[in-house]
Amino acid sequence: DALIPCNFVIFGGNGDLAIRKLLPAIYRLIEDGHMADDTIVIGASRSDLGQEKYQANVLAGLKKFIPDFKEEIWQNLKPRLNYTAVDASNPKSFDNLKKALGKNFAKQTTTYYLSTAPDLFGTTSEGLKAKGLIKDCTRVVLEKPIGKSLETSYIINDSVAGLFPEKNIYRIDHYLGKETVQNLMSLRFANSLFEPMWTNAHIDNVQITISEAVGAEGRWSYYDESGALRDMVQNHMLQLLCLVAMEVPISLDADSIRAEKLKVLKSLKIMTPDEVEKNAIRAQYTKGSINGEKVVGYREEEGGNAESETETFVAIRADIHNWRWRGVPFYIRTGKRLPERYSEIVIEFKKIPHSIFPGNNLHGNKLVIRLQPEESIQLMMMNKVPGLDAGAPVHPVTLNLSLPDKYANVRVPEAYERLIYDVIAGNSTLYVHREEVEAAWVWADAILDGWKASSRVPHSYAAGSWGPQSAFELVARYGRSWHESD
Ligand code: BG6
Repeated sequence: DALIPCNFVIFGGNGDLAIRKLLPAIYRLIEDGHMADDTIVIGASRSDLGQEKYQANVLAGLKKFIPDFKEEIWQNLKPRLNYTAVDASNPKSFDNLKKALGKNFAKQTTTYYLSTAPDLFGTTSEGLKAKGLIKDCTRVVLEKPIGKSLETSYIINDSVAGLFPEKNIYRIDHYLGKETVQNLMSLRFANSLFEPMWTNAHIDNVQITISEAVGAEGRWSYYDESGALRDMVQNHMLQLLCLVAMEVPISLDADSIRAEKLKVLKSLKIMTPDEVEKNAIRAQYTKGSINGEKVVGYREEEGGNAESETETFVAIRADIHNWRWRGVPFYIRTGKRLPERYSEIVIEFKKIPHSIFPGNNLHGNKLVIRLQPEESIQLMMMNKVPGLDAGAPVHPVTLNLSLPDKYANVRVPEAYERLIYDVIAGNSTLYVHREEVEAAWVWADAILDGWKASSRVPHSYAAGSWGPQSAFELVARYGRSWHESD
């Protein structure tokens, strides 16, 4: 169904995220009949680009990122796609936005999507306030990163908090918008099969991997300040961990789910420097090859410098200190320039207590939840090898639910489609509360502090490998190994 008409304003509207993800998502919402006719979209950015040039940029982006681009959808978007030059540091320039919004501001709800550097969130909100462009129902979306530490996250959150009430602040973590990530909740809470087993009595360990083949992707200066822990773990990976580990929420509403996620984050064991040394591996890629193509090392990337010690890979053992998870290690691993792009959650169940079968090849069952690129849920189980031989061994086989096969005629929406849809509908269930951001920083800061105090520099790994040897040693030390996908 069509959503209520609104004004959707994107700050950083000509930036990479807007052109690559946000405007294609709006295109899809129009295509699927979700955008009311009166909804207007305004791209705002500092430069004096002008309407025509902006529309040409957006069109080029849509043609590039929408494989089945249709002119008629563009013709629907074009007349309501405006451009306005706003410089957050110049309060006067907000007059341009006021003019672009015109009567629509009074008529319908406005959402500001701040796809800019976080240090502009505060000045942008102040500029809006000063021109009377914030009402009780006005919403603001904040892109990550929310800070570089707990302390800096306070500054960013505080800068917006005085101007918008928390219920109107939508902190985005695009992983929560991914269809398969939402399906995690269905898997756990719409089936009776798994939940009784979902405890330390039956689960041996949990592994979460986000592997990326890309490198610094031309954004070295951002990435070098950030590194893999801040860029991927503090947000996306901890959100995945929360969805795996949380208790059953009382309902699907935003507050109930956030409350359960927050309990998990607050139960994370904060590492001591010794534990960081042992359980938080960081590494940086050197030159190598991906899919037969030679690539340079991190330090040699465009805009890079030869001294950087920023990590492009992390492997961490996290522990959750509560009744359900005590004693179950959560192994988290992510890196750039690994051999392929995929994200996966593996739940490894304990082995049977006693085997009556010959040989000692009995593995614990594994539930493998593949989030991307192709979504699937696999259950690894032991099965008898067919044949008359009474002593025939058992071996592992896989029950495979491939979601693209199951829903062959359904287009899976992109994460940003879901999240933009939700903010327009006023549903913040898939957005992150301030308290979650802060609890995640408390845990991440301890690791960053431990690294800073350590004399050890990041390990290195060749681009195109599965990371440093130390990442394998980390799990081997506890008698486990990383799950190897087919
Ligand atoms: C972003 C990070 O948040 O997520 C990027 O800043 C990363 O470094 C990206 O590449 C991964 O997202 P996805 O959806 O491609 O897995």
